[in-house]
Amino acid sequence: MSRREDIDVRTITETEIPAWIRALNTGFLRSPAVSDEEITNRGSSILLERTLGAFDTDHPHSRLRSTGGTPIVATFRSFPQQLTPVGGTPVPADAITNVSVNPTHRRRGLLTRMMATDLTAAKDRGDVVATLIAAEYPIYGRYGFGQATTATEWTIDVSRSGLDPRWSGPTDGARIDLVDGEEVRELGPDLHERLRRTQPGAVSRDERWWQINTGVLSLSGDPWKEPFYAVYRSATGEVEGLVSYESDDNWGDAKQPLNTAEVNWLITVTPAAERALWRYLCSIDWIAHVKTGWRAPDDLLPHFLPDPRAARITIQADWLWVRILDVVRALEARTYAGSGTLVLDVTDGDGLSAGRYRLEAGPDGATCAPTTTAADLTLDVGELAALWLGDESAVRLTALGRVHEEREGAAVVADALLRTSRRPWCPDIF
Ligand SMILES: CC(C)(COP(=O)(O)OP(=O)(O)OC[C@H]1O[C@@H](n2cnc3c(N)ncnc32)[C@H](O)[C@@H]1OP(=O)(O)O)[C@@H](O)C(=O)NCCC(=O)NCCS
Repeated sequence: MSRREDIDVRTITETEIPAWIRALNTGFLRSPAVSDEEITNRGSSILLERTLGAFDTDHPHSRLRSTGGTPIVATFRSFPQQLTPVGGTPVPADAITNVSVNPTHRRRGLLTRMMATDLTAAKDRGDVVATLIAAEYPIYGRYGFGQATTATEWTIDVSRSGLDPRWSGPTDGARIDLVDGEEVRELGPDLHERLRRTQPGAVSRDERWWQINTGVLSLSGDPWKEPFYAVYRSATGEVEGLVSYESDDNWGDAKQPLNTAEVNWLITVTPAAERALWRYLCSIDWIAHVKTGWRAPDDLLPHFLPDPRAARITIQADWLWVRILDVVRALEARTYAGSGTLVLDVTDGDGLSAGRYRLEAGPDGATCAPTTTAADLTLDVGELAALWLGDESAVRLTALGRVHEEREGAAVVADALLRTSRRPWCPDIF
């Protein structure tokens, strides 16, 4: 086993990209083979100064070694992102992705070293938070991340929904049309911008997102299977919703179509568009079930159906994890349900955000500053992240022993300020 000092954690160079992708594929249990297309397409998103590799300088047998290289045994990458807090003023985020450690080098602290390097750089850069989607729940809490949003997937049994099967489109002048990928690339970015700027928990998307999700760019080199896309326009012609979906091919034992429509993504900016697009999906001939993809847990969907029980929760899990790097700016970036003062004693094992902060919160914004006055609540920075987007309850975390009341009733006050009437939602995976 190589010793700690034999493993360098550092940023990679351009020529090391193929080996880095090979290590990433290995860690993610994909075939390690790296195609030229993958190098070009994946490589074009890599910011070398924010892409880390762990290099085993003591690796005994390697073809790489004979060509002067050092085997890469772990990967980590981050990129700039914006995250929308409550109140809709996006903050700069350090989005973390492609985290992997080869199985031969696991549990020797490599992730810990890469994470420390990246988070320190993000804080120095002035990012307010770091974000990620976790492969497994227990990985990131130790680094100060907290579960900030939850994702829910429903499977709708169309025959039980109570919807009128004769429906053939909106009757109020709005319309739904099938479009191709090119039109999605034209219409999608503006629609998504409108959504994500007001949706707590939503993150920015770059042009690549639309290219990858319409088949222009393939990261894996796998053949692209074009999905269906439908756009909703209001009676005044405004684009208010877009859905990408696929169907399987299932004819059951009695030669009856039993297809499932699987939604890749569905974004809307009005409840009318949301209702119409779900209605559309449930009206497609042959479709017996609709899988909704990752939605907010309080999505309106079940209640668009006369029988909401026809929408069964099939997945419910943590989704966006947030690590607060700058408590003052994070708390000042959002608005609050009411007016009030809260003094928070924030602990942080990594020392990045620890301190006692006084928050003067209000519906139009807040001021926050370090203070020496007595604390109302003591909590870890990860618990603050869970509360920050409004999804978690301070009362619940107090009951769990994860938040401590220094003043009786402070958790109720915190909930009255921090919680939101709708739950946050991050439509993206990254
Ligand atoms: C998750 C992963 C990156 C962890 O890397 P690692 O280098 O083994 O992690 P570290 O050695 O730095 O672990 C630090 C601590 O986290 C714990 N830990 C790490 N991964 C864990 C996991 N998946 N579940 C539970 N605990 C985990 C370690 O036990 C260790 O705890 P300790 O300090 O109490 O001993 C690695 O196991 C991996 O590549 N897994 C497969 C791919 C993956 O899931 N990537 C994450 C994508 S979001």
